[in-house]
Amino acid sequence: MIQQTAKVLWNKKVGPSCYRLGLETGRGYLDAKPGQFITVKTEDGFDPLLRRPFSIHRLIAENDKAFQGIEVLFKVVGRSTMQFSKLKPGDSLSILGPLGQGFSIQESHREIIMVAGGIGIAPLLFLAEVLAEKGMDASGCKVLIGGGTKQDLLCIDDFKTLNIDTHISTDDGSCGHKGLITDLLEAAIEENKPDIIFACGPHLMLKAVAGIANSRSIRCQISLETIMVCGIGACLGCAVRVKDDSGKYGHVCVDGPVFDSRNILID
Ligand SMILES: Cc1cc2nc3c(=O)[nH]c(=O)nc-3n(C[C@H](O)[C@H](O)[C@H](O)COP(=O)(O)OP(=O)(O)OC[C@H]3O[C@@H](n4cnc5c(N)ncnc54)[C@H](O)[C@@H]3O)c2cc1C
Ligand code: FES
Repeated sequence: MIQQTAKVLWNKKVGPSCYRLGLETGRGYLDAKPGQFITVKTEDGFDPLLRRPFSIHRLIAENDKAFQGIEVLFKVVGRSTMQFSKLKPGDSLSILGPLGQGFSIQESHREIIMVAGGIGIAPLLFLAEVLAEKGMDASGCKVLIGGGTKQDLLCIDDFKTLNIDTHISTDDGSCGHKGLITDLLEAAIEENKPDIIFACGPHLMLKAVAGIANSRSIRCQISLETIMVCGIGACLGCAVRVKDDSGKYGHVCVDGPVFDSRNILID
């Protein structure tokens, strides 16, 4: 984990309030794992004071070879993300990372379901690209992408390019299945029980996905989002209850953000 100044390579609007931000970074990110994150702040000024956490969306490798940096996919929800939306190529940001524990990938995982709610798609594209690099048989892999409406759906073409079977749900029915992404998950499990589920998205979605997986004894890894202050295990601001009798807490920034769904209590 190092702090560095990262030059903005691009900042492309990809949805009504979503951006893909390309950042030139040191080669240390070549070892980053899907699910790990960075914390980011603008270099000038103290407003907002705190760094903000973002998943690593992709590694940028020109011509599939020369490593350039990383991409972040972000949604504008407040002050920092509004500032980031105005960044231009050549601007710079202070970044710290790679941080946290990412998804754990095993050779024995053949039937894989990825579940993404809204901006939760961010770490899952990186995961899919790494799985493809490792020679994953795309025929065993599905991605379920959900959003409130058609405009919330991101990265569909990227998954299709990887030949991953892609299923869509929206709350309002403007694209794909009308209803919850967990409807698609239950149908997909019914059709073919997966070896592993990887999920990232809103808290309630993750709670439901974990419940479905745990009740069917399917391995499941979920990437949690909490408010983070330090991002490095120093402030105890991101505590989450672990599932044992000890009453202990884990910390999303250092023990996660990716957890085995069997090991934590999601309120
Ligand atoms: C490990 C991790 C990875 C993340 N990855 C991404 C990503 O890839 N793309 C992305 O767009 N966002 C991601 N987030 C969420 C992102 O960090 C927040 O949206 C961002 O910090 C908001 O900053 P802001 O100053 O714009 O908003 P603020 O003004 O700080 O807050 C605006 C609103 O967003 C809520 N909020 C702020 N931080 C969080 C948070 N961490 N989780 C949930 N709600 C929050 C606040 O409660 C408030 O309602 C991630 C969060 C974590 C913990
Ligand atoms: S954010 Fe400070 S301990 Fe996790």
